[in-house]
Amino acid sequence: MDELKFNKLAAGVLCGVLLIMAGIKTADVLLPHQHLDQNAYPIEVAETTSATAAPEAPKGADPVLALLASADIAAGEKLGKKCAACHSFNDGGPAKVGPNLWNIVNAPAARDGGFKYSTAMAEMGGEWSYGNLNQFLYKPKQWLKGTKMNYAGIKKANDRADVIAWLRSLSSAPVALPSDEEIAAEASNS
Ligand code: HEC
Repeated sequence: MDELKFNKLAAGVLCGVLLIMAGIKTADVLLPHQHLDQNAYPIEVAETTSATAAPEAPKGADPVLALLASADIAAGEKLGKKCAACHSFNDGGPAKVGPNLWNIVNAPAARDGGFKYSTAMAEMGGEWSYGNLNQFLYKPKQWLKGTKMNYAGIKKANDRADVIAWLRSLSSAPVALPSDEEIAAEASNS
């Protein structure tokens, strides 16, 4: 095909396209638009709130105070073998990787003079109440940011109750079990 023929053909095609476009435009102007209240084909999109919802605050430990009275001290001692890698549990026992834990329930935090605590624990204040032990042992690094206790934590409430009941027994005069009021207060806080 020579150049002229090709040009004619191209012009023809172009004109055709233009005519069709003009036709569509005219029809657009002349014909009344149909306004649909709805999409002709409704598109169902499930409403998801989770995508935009604020991230949940880290969940604290489940309550254990109510479990302590019937906790299994022997099971707690068994679980405590993991703690023994870093802690001594006897009266006057030495600081190891971590501080001595004899008579720790209700003792002031960071009380072991022979142990160099992290700043976080040294400045934490308060006592190792049942409630604090529960939260700390659940996820140590989440509850006390900056602690140097490299231990993932004890997931199950039953296991924490057993360990805490065992810790309580490591004393010449174990502190009282939680009162009904303390148990109720813990339940309403969580
Ligand atoms: C890998 C070592 C390691 C393991 C395992 C470990 N701890 Fe610790 N623990 C530490 C260290 C280190 C500290 C001091 C933390 C600091 O200074 O921030 C500590 C601190 C503590 C304290 C605070 C004591 C105080 O004097 O204030 C308690 C209570 C405690 N641990 C209980 C436990 C229990 C119970 C277990 C077992 C379920 C356990 N730890 C397992 C290393 C460990």
